Order: sequence, then C-alpha cells, then structure tokens
Amino acid sequence: MKTILTEEAIHAGVRRLATQIIDDFRGERLAVMGVMTGSVVFLADLIRQLDFPLRVGVVWASSYRGSTTVRGELSVNTAMMPNVSGEHVLLIDDIFDTGHTLAHLLQEIQKCGAASVRSAVLLRKQGRREVTIVPDYVAFEIPDEFVVGYGLDYQDYYRHLPYLAALEPDDLAKWQP
Ligand code: IMP
Ligand code: MG
Repeated sequence: MKTILTEEAIHAGVRRLATQIIDDFRGERLAVMGVMTGSVVFLADLIRQLDFPLRVGVVWASSYRGSTTVRGELSVNTAMMPNVSGEHVLLIDDIFDTGHTLAHLLQEIQKCGAASVRSAVLLRKQGRREVTIVPDYVAFEIPDEFVVGYGLDYQDYYRHLPYLAALEPDDLAKWQP
C-alpha cells in the first residue's frame, strides 16, 4: 500500500474544514448527518471540532462494489435518520467519486423537508464526476486511485487505518481466490 495522506495531514485538513463550517453555520440550527459506514471516522473527528450546538445523526448508503473501479447498485436507507424537517442539514461523506451517492441522498433529505442541505466530504476523486452537483466542502482532492483507511474500505477491511493509502495491484491480488 502507498500512503496518500498521513494521519497528521488528515487532521490538519479536518481542522481546516471545521473552521470553514464554523464560519458559515454559527448561529444556525445545524443537523450533521453522516453517511454510514465510510464517514464514521471523519464524522467523529469533524463534529468534535464544531464548538456550537448541533444535532448528529446517520443515514445509510451502500454502493455494493466488489470491484474497485465499477460503481455497483446504490441502496439508501433514511429510516434511521432523525427528523430533519425545518433544519439546516450538513451531509458528511468520506469521498465524492462519481457523486451519485451524494446526489441521491441530498434529494432524499430535501424530501424530508430540510430547510437547506449542504454537503462535506473528506475526499474528492479527480475526473470521476457523473452528476451536476458538487460538494460544498472538500478537505482533499485526490488522484483517481482506489484508497482505503480513515473510514474508507475494501470489502469492509482497512476502515480503521488512521491514514489514507492507495491499494496497489499486489494488495488486490491477495483478494483473488
Ligand atoms: P459515488 O456514489 O460514486 O460518489 O461513490 C461514493 C461511495 O463509493 C463512497 O461513499 C465510498 O463508499 C465508495 N468509494 C468510492 N471511491 C472509493 C475509494 O477509492 N475507496 C473506497 N471507497 C470508495
Ligand atoms: Mg461509503
């Protein structure tokens, strides 16, 4: 595996993003919704930098991929999301790749009657966008490589790594039967 972002670099990026969010949202009623499971580490670090009252909840999305390059079928579950009617929502995800996950979730949250919906991602992969929307906050732009760690997974492995790494052909070969 090749390290793309060290633990220190990620923490600096999360602090930078938190500063922007604090400037933009202070005084508003903010509800932060993390997209499970990939945002779990980012969500935990980001909310601890936000020093004003806020609600925190989660929403589920999964894009069933066995492959590292092809997007699978998207499945979304807002059943466990708190009621966000009338609230300003900030949707948090690990990575904006094609953008279909975020575009779909933003629509679902709007349907729930949110006053506004914005989005923040740790990573944006260059040259992959297939939707018109763009995330409002991005901590890092990364090249088009399959990355893991800091919440991002390959088949639910690697999420616990404190840094971000790209999986190389040798790493992927281990997964072949
Ligand atoms: P999108 O809908 O194509 O933007 O994909 C978003 C989802 O795909 C993310 O929430 C991740 O779960 C997953 N994903 C996309 N790229 C990567 C990657 O490089 N590593 C791990 N997961 C990824
Ligand atoms: Mg994800």
